[in-house]
Amino acid sequence: MTGRLQDKVVVVTGAASRSEGVGTGKAMAILAAREGAKLVLVNRSAERGQTLKAEIEAEGGVAMSFAADVTQASDMQAMAEAAEARFGRIDVLCNNVGGSAGRSGSVSALAEADWHATLALNLTSAMLASKACLPAMQRAGGGSILNISSVVGVLGLMSHTGAAAYAAAKAGLLGLTLSLAADYAKDGIRANCIVVGTVYTPMVESQGTEARARRAAMVPLRREGLGWDVGWGMVYLASDEARWITGAMLPIDGGLLNVRDWPR
Ligand SMILES: NC(=O)c1ccc[n+]([C@@H]2O[C@H](COP(=O)([O-])OP(=O)(O)OC[C@H]3O[C@@H](n4cnc5c(N)ncnc54)[C@H](O)[C@@H]3O)[C@@H](O)[C@H]2O)c1
Repeated sequence: MTGRLQDKVVVVTGAASRSEGVGTGKAMAILAAREGAKLVLVNRSAERGQTLKAEIEAEGGVAMSFAADVTQASDMQAMAEAAEARFGRIDVLCNNVGGSAGRSGSVSALAEADWHATLALNLTSAMLASKACLPAMQRAGGGSILNISSVVGVLGLMSHTGAAAYAAAKAGLLGLTLSLAADYAKDGIRANCIVVGTVYTPMVESQGTEARARRAAMVPLRREGLGWDVGWGMVYLASDEARWITGAMLPIDGGLLNVRDWPR
């Protein structure tokens, strides 16, 4: 490792994957620690956060775990205060938590409460965490916010039914990213978005092998990605190598968004 994030204080929400596998949050946290960052692992489950902290420390990394619900403003406020109290600053915020809350469905089948819950989990959470961390970034003289969106927020997928709330929330993250980039450029704070494709993470591990094969086949590069693929994108966008990049949307999707077959 080459210290690409040396001494940066990096907050990752939903850092400790929902199972033993490596989700995007866990990959970001582990890679950032290996690159010299000090990690703030935000997770609803204190136990999973502690396990990841121990894993990072066993490799010689530095991390604190903070158990919190990202949908609660007071939790995000307390998290930012604890991070600054422990490490003295916040440089990077990765808004990684995401997924469907409640029952997903197309608009006619969707319960209003589930719509609100999914927006809260994916979109409001990113606003709340950003609002809590921005003052520390301003005090530090700059920072980097990274939102984790999805191809589902940019593409209408006919076979991917029932994702109305999730898709709307992930599309909303694109707008939030652009607003953050515009409003805080004057403070040296960058905001970018990773548009994640069909990566194999704990979020989708309940899908069978046939679904996995279909997910791989729809991608021009003909294989699923891994949490690590997203993690490396995060390392770059969070690092000073990306100091002139803000308001960008980086697809990490094996070409799904921008590369098409063209029958002739
Ligand atoms: N896997 C895919 O194919 C795919 C595709 C596109 C986008 N994504 C996005 O990638 C991200 C997936 O992240 P992951 O792989 O780390 O997921 P994950 O589900 O493995 O881990 C997320 C963690 O967040 C925690 N969490 C859930 N709700 C929380 C809350 N309210 N407050 C605090 N913590 C909470 C969970 O306990 C879990 O530990 C999501 O934003 C998802 O929308 C995934």
